[in-house]
Amino acid sequence: MKRSEVNTIMQEAEQFIRQSGFYLPPFAYWTPAEWRSRGEEAREIVENQLGWDITDFGLGRYAEDGLFLFTVRNGSQAEMRAKQGKLYCEKIMVVDVNQKTPFHFHWNKVEDIINRGGGKLAIKLYNATPEEGLADTPVVASLDGVKRHFKAGDIVELDPGESITLTPYLYHEFWGTGQRVLVGEVSLVNDDAGDNRFYKPVGRFPEIEEDAEPLHLLTQDYARYWKAN
Ligand SMILES: [Fe+2]
Repeated sequence: MKRSEVNTIMQEAEQFIRQSGFYLPPFAYWTPAEWRSRGEEAREIVENQLGWDITDFGLGRYAEDGLFLFTVRNGSQAEMRAKQGKLYCEKIMVVDVNQKTPFHFHWNKVEDIINRGGGKLAIKLYNATPEEGLADTPVVASLDGVKRHFKAGDIVELDPGESITLTPYLYHEFWGTGQRVLVGEVSLVNDDAGDNRFYKPVGRFPEIEEDAEPLHLLTQDYARYWKAN
């Protein structure tokens, strides 16, 4: 993705999030220059990968295969191992009409995906086979505390206010219908380096072509800008 495209997506998403009545934390607005001047106090943001995360899954077609995410809070793998501390994660996402996040599951993370407003969120579900393929077995999932039964490959549509709990080894693909959707995620600690199993191999983070200055840093930029002493 071009940096100029990332900047435009950030601006539009920020506006949509704000208009929807959700507000991003202060570090969302740090400039690249501020990031360079930050020290030890920013460690949690960097190490737990909080912040802007825009991906085209390495496919080069953001409008069709892409996702806007902002990680508001997240714990660490050390806390997960210790079973103590911040064992949770919260993200806010923007999903456009027919913009797909491709089939994936998580080995460890349990996540609630929440429609926080806008259009409907469509989610297609399959259990994983022991070989991590798509199973034809029935799917059981809890929607806002109510257990529901689905056929393999069924599409669940969440209206604003509704949510679904996605358990490990449950393949999910999602996209918006009707209009742009503000989507929340509340989950166990998120580990993008080791806990995403995509059905078809894709890239979790995009290659960035630097054709403009970053408006705000993506999580993948932190290593180049933040040097704690
Ligand atoms: Fe997921």
